[in-house]
Amino acid sequence: MNTEEFEKYKNDFYEYRKQLFKGHVLNSLFFEVTLRCNARCEHCGSNCGDIIQKDEITKDEIFKVLEDIRNAGLYDPKTVMLNITGGEPLVRKDLFEIMAYADSLGFPWGITTNGILIDEKVVKNMAKTHMYSVSVSIDGLRETHEKFRRVKNCYDKILKGIELMLKEPEIKVVQVTTCVNKKNIDELEDIYQMLLKMGLKEWRVIEVDPIGRAFNNTDILLDGDGYKRMVRFIKEKQLEGKMNVTYGCGHYLGNGVDYDIRKKPFICYTGVNVGCILSNGDIFVCPDVKRRPELIQGNIRKDNFMEVWEKKFKLFRKMTRTCNSTCKKCSEWKLCGGDAFHTWDFDENKPLVCPKVLFKEDYRIQKELQDLKKKRSRKKTGNNKK
Ligand SMILES: C[S@@+](CC[C@H](N)C(=O)[O-])C[C@H]1O[C@@H](n2cnc3c(N)ncnc32)[C@H](O)[C@@H]1O
Ligand code: SF4
Ligand code: SF4
Repeated sequence: MNTEEFEKYKNDFYEYRKQLFKGHVLNSLFFEVTLRCNARCEHCGSNCGDIIQKDEITKDEIFKVLEDIRNAGLYDPKTVMLNITGGEPLVRKDLFEIMAYADSLGFPWGITTNGILIDEKVVKNMAKTHMYSVSVSIDGLRETHEKFRRVKNCYDKILKGIELMLKEPEIKVVQVTTCVNKKNIDELEDIYQMLLKMGLKEWRVIEVDPIGRAFNNTDILLDGDGYKRMVRFIKEKQLEGKMNVTYGCGHYLGNGVDYDIRKKPFICYTGVNVGCILSNGDIFVCPDVKRRPELIQGNIRKDNFMEVWEKKFKLFRKMTRTCNSTCKKCSEWKLCGGDAFHTWDFDENKPLVCPKVLFKEDYRIQKELQDLKKKRSRKKTGNNKK
């Protein structure tokens, strides 16, 4: 792209994002069904663990939200994906009763899980309730994973669970999510080889974010070089083409790099196309966003979810929702939009993750990715001279 074309691309994209923010079509609804968890991971953005939660939403309260969406008539349930998360959703004894009801109303659904509780019975229930997708967290090889997640002897069980789900034809997408951090970045190649051998087709790679227990934890947070290594690794594997390796929705990675890795521009959809019901019933945006009182939009115990989605959420639908004086003047603004909402520091009014700061404006990574692509296409055509 020459400069003129790039300017046009930026402006067109900005216009597209504006329309998206205005339309705010709900297509993804997170249900944080609990904050209870059978692990206590070093990085947990929601500070979960072995707790007793007194205000956890009940099965009937969840049913009511689903009915409210259906009865409002604005959306066909088929078009609203329910993303079940936690805490660890599988610790809820009534989970499949809830999902059976959601399925009967026509909602597609998927789950994010640490995988520890998956066995034959759970897989049968997943199939019976037509679970569309599952994402299991694997954050390293055995020793690293068990230490990071602070659960002994869980690794083989998790791998067995993935194998069971891969064999179940009702489950359309079996994905592994790996949260890259300083402790596992050297193991990415070995994890990849292991997942390939298992026959996995979908691997989602994300970086650890400075939220929850990971906030300020420099033992695990990636620096600019760590980000570049992760990006290079993802690109190499995408070029190999043996598995669908994707970079999560996390962050804008800077001019060119972002588009190259994600195959579409960065947009933080939170509050625009993505809503969430937190485990205490609060109506919110992505569960990774800090639960500041002024950001909570309502509670399902007193409000109708659909009315809140339509009438509130105003702050999230402003193009300048994450913007300060530096962003305003920044050459990346139209593509970045102040990066992701979940890492905006509202006290300091600044992004915790900014590609300009992270890469120190050194975008040589763009050139490296181009070289990787050329090398790969030369390999394919058998021309290895240059
Ligand atoms: C909060 S967990 C809930 C589901 C389940 N308990 C699990 O661990 O998969 C959802 C996802 O968020 C990821 N996550 C947790 N803390 C994070 C952080 N600080 N940065 C990035 N991802 C994080 C987890 O690794 C997991 O893949
Ligand atoms: S990341 Fe998932 S498994 Fe780990 S403590 Fe948080 S909710 Fe539990
Ligand atoms: S200053 Fe950073 S966060 Fe703000 S628009 Fe520029 S690149 Fe994005």
